[in-house]
Amino acid sequence: MNQTIIAPSILAADFANLQRDVEMINNSDADWFHIDVMDGVFVPNISFGMPVIKSIAKHAKKPLDVHLMIIDPDRYIKTFAELGANILSVHYEACTHLHRTLQAIKNEGMQAGVAINPHTNVALLEDTINDIDLVCIMSVNPGFGGQSFIEHTYKKVVKLKQLIQETGASTLIEIDGGVTDKNATQLINAGADVLVAGSYIFGNPDPQKVIENLYAQINP
Ligand code: DX5
Ligand code: ZN
Repeated sequence: MNQTIIAPSILAADFANLQRDVEMINNSDADWFHIDVMDGVFVPNISFGMPVIKSIAKHAKKPLDVHLMIIDPDRYIKTFAELGANILSVHYEACTHLHRTLQAIKNEGMQAGVAINPHTNVALLEDTINDIDLVCIMSVNPGFGGQSFIEHTYKKVVKLKQLIQETGASTLIEIDGGVTDKNATQLINAGADVLVAGSYIFGNPDPQKVIENLYAQINP
């Protein structure tokens, strides 16, 4: 079994001490930086944009996993590549021509991800799964950190894992929203490869220790 990836969500970091929190992730057992971009249109919140990502990229020593919660993401694919994104995820619900968008992301040298909202059936990815490097299953409604995990997610992970195996795809399954030590093991057992965690990590006075414990729990 492959190692499970931990991707702390920068959305929950202290923006007034961003470099400190970036260095904490550099020095931790975490594998990726999860970076949430919200436009106030696709989701009812605005997070941060290019200048902030540029500053994160300057200090980050691990891959940048950028999650776009924006309409018409095709407009910015090149920009995120230039900013240093390694994985770029767009929302299924925001893409009219998803296949074309995935090719455009790959053409810029990034890995292509697709995020799906809680109401979106994983079966809708059947015709694109072989073109997707990562599926981000939203386990909360996107827009805010600190929400409660939606229990139905486990069933979606199992179903998606089945689709990946049946089609011979090498897609990673990422879980985003409400992830804690309480659901991590069950998510891995269902087939998850990447766990995003925001408030669970940064809500603790010793976030590096939380990552260390989570890492030990899911990579025994
Ligand atoms: C929600 C974001 C998540 C969020 C997760 O729209 O996509 O990445 O930061 O935060 P927690 O772990 O607090 O649910
Ligand atoms: Zn996210």
